[in-house]
Formats: sequence, structure tokens, C-alpha cells
Amino acid sequence: MALYSDKVMDHFRNPRNVGVLEDANGIGEVGNAKCGDIMKMYLKIEDDIIQDVKFETFGCGSAIASSSMATELIKGKPVSEAMQLTNKAVAEALDGLPAYKMHCSVLAEEAIQKALDDYHSRSENK
Ligand code: FES
Repeated sequence: MALYSDKVMDHFRNPRNVGVLEDANGIGEVGNAKCGDIMKMYLKIEDDIIQDVKFETFGCGSAIASSSMATELIKGKPVSEAMQLTNKAVAEALDGLPAYKMHCSVLAEEAIQKALDDYHSRSENK
């Protein structure tokens, strides 16, 4: 069996939603101290819906594929649904990741949660 699924390879080679959202109202950046990889998520939320999402990942192939898949999973979804997104769901949507690469999908979950926290604190301070 190949180490990486076709979906992982596809999202690594052709990542969806890469870039910066200038008008983001929720931004989250996380890193993994062990490998040094960094992921940044930008959310544009309107009427409680994730209207747009982009990411920048300085990291391994699994981290890039995880961020790409995670953006696809939350785009167009209500905030409440995005808050439930787990790294396990991201890995499952990618048809699995090798066990020692699961931590890469954790970055995607954390970056989205952090961006949602940022969105919530901004709206509280309005
Ligand atoms: Fe660092 Fe994958 S090895 S996120």
C-alpha cells in the first residue's frame, strides 16, 4: 500500500484555497515546536457562515494536504459546524494519514479553532 492516499497527494500537489484573505475577520496561526511547521488560517465570516477561507502553510506535505482539506470541509458551513471540526475528520476525509503524520492534521484543527476564537473576540469587542 502506498504511504499516502491519492487524496493526500492530490491536496498536496494542488492545494485548494491557498493564500491570504485581506478582509478576513478571523485569523489563526499555529505552529508545531517539534517540526517547526507553521500554519495560518484566514476566515471571512458573514451571517455566521464561513463565506471564504484561505491558508498559508509552511510545512510538510501532510500539513499542506490537511490545511487544504480542512478549508474545503468548512467553506460555506455555519460557524457552529466549523467549531466541531476535528483533526480526525480531516484525516478521514483525506482517506487517512500515516500514524506518525497525524500531528500534521492537528495543526489544521488548531489553526481553524484559533481563527474562530479570533473572530469571536473581535465581535465581542465591537
Ligand atoms: Fe510538521 Fe507535518 S511534520 S506538520
